[in-house]
Amino acid sequence: MKKVLEIKTGETIVFRHLTKSDVDGVWNNFNEVINEGLYLPVLFPVRSQLEKDSWYHNIKNEKEICIVAENTALKRPYNIIGQCEISNSNWDAAAHVGTLGIIVKEKYRNLTIGRNLIDLAIRESKRLNNKEKIVLSSFSNNQRAIHLFTELGFKTIGVRKKQFLMDSDYIDEVLMELWIDDSFILGEL
Ligand SMILES: CC(C)(COP(=O)(O)OP(=O)(O)OC[C@H]1O[C@@H](n2cnc3c(N)ncnc32)[C@H](O)[C@@H]1OP(=O)(O)O)[C@@H](O)C(=O)NCCC(=O)NCCS
Repeated sequence: MKKVLEIKTGETIVFRHLTKSDVDGVWNNFNEVINEGLYLPVLFPVRSQLEKDSWYHNIKNEKEICIVAENTALKRPYNIIGQCEISNSNWDAAAHVGTLGIIVKEKYRNLTIGRNLIDLAIRESKRLNNKEKIVLSSFSNNQRAIHLFTELGFKTIGVRKKQFLMDSDYIDEVLMELWIDDSFILGEL
């Protein structure tokens, strides 16, 4: 799977499956978002190469989906400008369910990279892993993410009140899910 998109800045972005050489770029993006301190319930960046590499091997061993967005004009690791992962459930009886996580580098937000990453990751998780349902969660104040998930067909199925404590503020967690039906597969962005 490969998709090429020209965004409104004139840059060409390639969407494709994760490879080993993307690992540093993906983790740089993750650590940047952690340092923003606004979007994910993780307080410390990941520095350990062992941890980064074992994440990659786990994805490949478990045949999980990770789609990356690459700006081929940039040098590694800065070429990876976003990523969307759909991981497997730990429960045997929930093999049809995937859990979605997504990050786009700050400079590239609001340029449809997120929309494309999510759309492709869901299609690939259905095609390759027979996923039928995708679940995720978001901070309730992450209006851009909730807007995008809703636009793509996710429904809010609950809210965990005061689930996270970030910098002395409690934050609610919004739980969302999507059943991957024909309207999603036949739909276009
Ligand atoms: C959330 C995120 C993945 C979205 O990716 P993106 O590339 O910025 O998203 P897109 O450009 O495809 O779409 C953004 C949408 O949100 C809308 N939007 C932007 N700011 C908004 C706001 N404050 N409130 C509501 N909607 C907003 C845009 O108009 C666009 O919607 P549209 O296509 O209907 O016009 C990205 O912004 C990001 O990585 N954020 C930080 C990390 C994060 O929040 N991860 C998700 C954790 S659950």
